[in-house]
Amino acid sequence: MPTESRDHILIFDTTLRDGEQSPGCSMTLPEKLRIARMLEELGVDIIEAGFPIASEGDFESVRAVAAQTERARVCALARAADDDIDRAWEAIRHAARPRLHVFLATSALHREHKLRLSRPEILERTRTAVALARTVCDDVEFSPEDASRTEPEFLAEVVASAVEAGATTINLPDTVGYATPAEYRSLFASFRAALPAAITLSAHCHDDLGLAVANSLAAVEGGARQIECTINGIGERAGNAALEEVVMALRTRRDRFGVQTSINTPRLAPTSRAVATITRSPVARTKAIVGENAFAHEAGIHQHGVLACAATYEIMNPRDVGVDRGTLVLGKHSGRHAVRDRARQLGYTLTEPELDAVTAAVKRLADRKKSVFDEDLEAILLSQDPLASGPWRMESLRVTSGGADATATVRLVHIETERTVTEAAAGDGPVHAAFRALTRAASLQLRLVGFQVRSVSTGEDAQGEAIIDVRHDGIVFRGRGLSTDIVEAAALATLDIINRVQRRADNLSLVRRAPRAIDADRPTITLRD
Ligand code: KIV
Ligand code: ZN
Repeated sequence: MPTESRDHILIFDTTLRDGEQSPGCSMTLPEKLRIARMLEELGVDIIEAGFPIASEGDFESVRAVAAQTERARVCALARAADDDIDRAWEAIRHAARPRLHVFLATSALHREHKLRLSRPEILERTRTAVALARTVCDDVEFSPEDASRTEPEFLAEVVASAVEAGATTINLPDTVGYATPAEYRSLFASFRAALPAAITLSAHCHDDLGLAVANSLAAVEGGARQIECTINGIGERAGNAALEEVVMALRTRRDRFGVQTSINTPRLAPTSRAVATITRSPVARTKAIVGENAFAHEAGIHQHGVLACAATYEIMNPRDVGVDRGTLVLGKHSGRHAVRDRARQLGYTLTEPELDAVTAAVKRLADRKKSVFDEDLEAILLSQDPLASGPWRMESLRVTSGGADATATVRLVHIETERTVTEAAAGDGPVHAAFRALTRAASLQLRLVGFQVRSVSTGEDAQGEAIIDVRHDGIVFRGRGLSTDIVEAAALATLDIINRVQRRADNLSLVRRAPRAIDADRPTITLRD
């Protein structure tokens, strides 16, 4: 059981489960493994790795995270149903420290409209599901979904049933981000007073009203000793409580909260960048803790104050959260050793083939740009994902542009069959022309819904990152491309999407060949990219 002490807050990271549920944030297996490794280095106590019954892909990724994780607990989510629990346990049974997380909605709205279950039926399902989970796993968390909108006396009955059946952690989610800090604090205070000290209380907050972090901190004041959160606050709708904000608030205001976490805070910024890159979801410049401007001082009077004494306008030391940007590290003549060392310092351990690929990419970049900064290297490291690339590779791209009229010619090679396709298209500008030529070459109809470019490092020759959103089959796909040339970055982002769409189609045809029954009365699960 995780050791709960009065002043220790367990950090339960759900980036790979609730975070992945946010549109466009789906991840491949190697991407999930990379994030899980970074989360362990960050020092999170529990990694919620996924929802194994949702799909074959979810099951496999939870199993792989469970197999690779040594210190942190690995948690799998299950609805209060036998099949879900069996599947979740199957995925984590070999983890060094497994946890089952069972949930069941309890509010009147959910009971009546979603589940069509009466109060006694909810109590019975809670009891049997938690008891079943306890027969296989001694660490069981129970979540009454939509707890903050559940009738208080009924919520108390459900929680009592879960505890009697053997739950060791009780999570009280603010599923729709409706609670206020005062309400959420008193909810925790009343359960803390009523439950045995051995039961850990957990907070799980969504950000629909922008209160997720405030509510999580209020829960700590009410007695919560576990906080469920995600890196960069990604998650359903407006997202979940942001891990980096919760952790730094507890640390910076220890005078007020009197608690600590095990988080290795200098790993916050690198982990945030990895999640932003992998999920193709850049954080806002003004985002607390990890935004580009979080430690920038623009006004002259502020700059003057910070130079005289940093504490005038800085409540945290940027180094404590891992913000130490702009280091000149590598160049054209840097060899494998230099690349390996610097990658290690950034938290990446490379295999020999990975090191070869990264060193080659650093040299290619150094040919195009004078200085290769940490951010450039990180961007390269995060692009080294052989399993997540393909089936198409871009062999060449030629673009001619005269104002708004542009044409692009692209040649794609299919990695497995070696088939090549060359297509040309015109467009309103070079990015549009490249987008049309690429989708034509891949025979796909994609609707462009968003396009952003930003630089990932400094200087006139900085690398540009393009993020493109498209809609296909009712799903939003997000692609990322990196280059010193913006049009090429946009083309690579389009190719990233084409490959994701293609891989998803291949996976779906595999799933369709081996369908698995899902109860008709349970909520539908959408297969994601
Ligand atoms: O928001 C929520 O209620 C959840 C539960 C599954 C814990 O994510
Ligand atoms: Zn949630």
